[in-house]
Amino acid sequence: MCGIVGYIGKKQAGPILLDGLSRLEYRGYDSAGIAVRGKRGVEVVKSKGRLALLVEKTDGGKSLDGTVGIGHTRWATHGVPNETNAHPHCSADKNVTVVHNGILENYRELRQKLAANGYKFYSETDTEVIVNLIDYYYKKYKAGPVDAIARFMQRARGAYAIAVMFRKYAGAIYVARKDSPMIVGVAEGEAYVASDVPAILKHTRTVYYIDNLEMACLTRKGVSFYNADREPIDKEAVTVEMDASAADKEEWQHFMIKEIHEQPRAVRNTFDRYVQDGKVDFSEAELTEEDLRCKHIVITACGSAYHVGIVLQYVIERIARVPVRVELASEFRYRDFLFEPDTLVVAISQSGETADTLAAVREAKAHGVKTLAVVNVQGSSIAREADRTVFTVAGPEIAVATTKAYSAQLVVGYLLALELARVHGAVDGTEYTRLLSEVASVPDKIAAILSDISSYQRFAAEHVNMHDVFMIGRGIDYAACMEGSLKLKEVSYVHTEAYAAGELKHGTISLIEKGTVVIGILTQSGVYEKTASNLEEVKSRGASVVGITFEGHALGSEIASACWTVPVIDERFAASLLVVPLQLVSYYMSVQLGLDVDKPRNLAKSVTVE
Ligand code: AGP
Repeated sequence: MCGIVGYIGKKQAGPILLDGLSRLEYRGYDSAGIAVRGKRGVEVVKSKGRLALLVEKTDGGKSLDGTVGIGHTRWATHGVPNETNAHPHCSADKNVTVVHNGILENYRELRQKLAANGYKFYSETDTEVIVNLIDYYYKKYKAGPVDAIARFMQRARGAYAIAVMFRKYAGAIYVARKDSPMIVGVAEGEAYVASDVPAILKHTRTVYYIDNLEMACLTRKGVSFYNADREPIDKEAVTVEMDASAADKEEWQHFMIKEIHEQPRAVRNTFDRYVQDGKVDFSEAELTEEDLRCKHIVITACGSAYHVGIVLQYVIERIARVPVRVELASEFRYRDFLFEPDTLVVAISQSGETADTLAAVREAKAHGVKTLAVVNVQGSSIAREADRTVFTVAGPEIAVATTKAYSAQLVVGYLLALELARVHGAVDGTEYTRLLSEVASVPDKIAAILSDISSYQRFAAEHVNMHDVFMIGRGIDYAACMEGSLKLKEVSYVHTEAYAAGELKHGTISLIEKGTVVIGILTQSGVYEKTASNLEEVKSRGASVVGITFEGHALGSEIASACWTVPVIDERFAASLLVVPLQLVSYYMSVQLGLDVDKPRNLAKSVTVE
């Protein structure tokens, strides 16, 4: 949450900062600001709302003179989104200027300490406490920026990535991080800092990943790194191979629809990376047979990645016969979990930076439990901290609502299920090969669904006024409902609930009335008829029913006013196909309602706070 950028070099900083922020807007977009250091000192411009307003206000950044600066796009935590609370924040005498991503948990206590030392505050933010605390240590100990920031780090509780400018150090930007992402990029005579690689990709591919409790000083001559004891440390630069165009919208109206259509490629690339000569090969991730011989699996994640976990619970248990528990990372981290011996914890995360999922990985490691991360972003915190990491090859995902990363995560999970099944002797060679070829068919089958989107567009147009939707199914169908329901909620703001079809009549059916839309998913052969009966029950209470099932199994018009079909696949992999119509309905509903599809209200792509 929140995006930060910084630049020092010979070019005008303002336009570079704004361009960087435009690529980080998915991280937060309720206000933005930049601070540029020119001949007149540090000039700060902020605006409430989308970045476009700041661009307009600063003539694309050109109205600020100077070649050093820092910028921020905000997702509010402390204090409402307004100009006063927007970053950058400065100390009263403009000695220190800061942008911050994260949450300073003990800010109240530190604010009191600073107030007792004469500091006054103009905003409601925790960031202003950071600014003044650094200023306080800088003036008290007179030992320079690195010392002042290190002292702040000793006192700070919570997560932060900060970029700091000091009045007396005109040719430097200082940065530090703990549990919030931050990278530093270098090019000839210039240096960049950003929350994420796409923000600087057009300027350089040479980056350094700053680790927890490390600092760096960026100058035009290069970058120096320090540990929390203020000692210089060496770091190796990494060359980023990411395709810069992948983070561009190209001819598409929104990133979400572009990314929905990129799913066949994301799934195929992920599959190809880990399947060689008809066998799954996770050796690149250093995942060993011994790891796979685990007796229990705990999957932990948040949001859509958690929904992937729910699907995989069914898939792994059915294919590999290894017991699986799925835990929301935000709950798992605080529940004093009882780990069974021989447990493998699998943490799933697109960004690799989700605070709760990262904490869950740490919790498992603290108990000596082996961790496997399934992550989309190279160099991210979860990827670096987990014992093993399998990367999804979805490419950069920009829309806040995840689509292609979800699909790529499912495929990694299917391959993991197959490997577990092989190692545990739950499948023979023939079945292994058959299942693998079923997984290989996912990209073409998703492409087939995407080749005709008219029913989903029509549904969205005809139901633009709907305000309650239930999605029901059993087993993997229910897991797909969970993801479909989240998609519709987050981009169209329509209230929806995913319900296990058999559970509806234990209370929630009281909400069904004439015209309530119920989307029923029925692909699991053992429970098809049971879900069909549940749909009859809601239909007889006035619901308008839509079915989703395999080709050749469509519900009759006596039950459903519409029935969408997806290509036939081994039913254990059905979620990969079922989610696509639900993504499309969500997208077109959002478009119909004229909403900001890629940046829904109140959300941010990467949730780096608890
Ligand atoms: C999904 O569309 C959401 N944007 C959200 O639920 C997301 O999946 C969740 O925040 C987890 O993010 P991660 O995969 O980056 O950890």
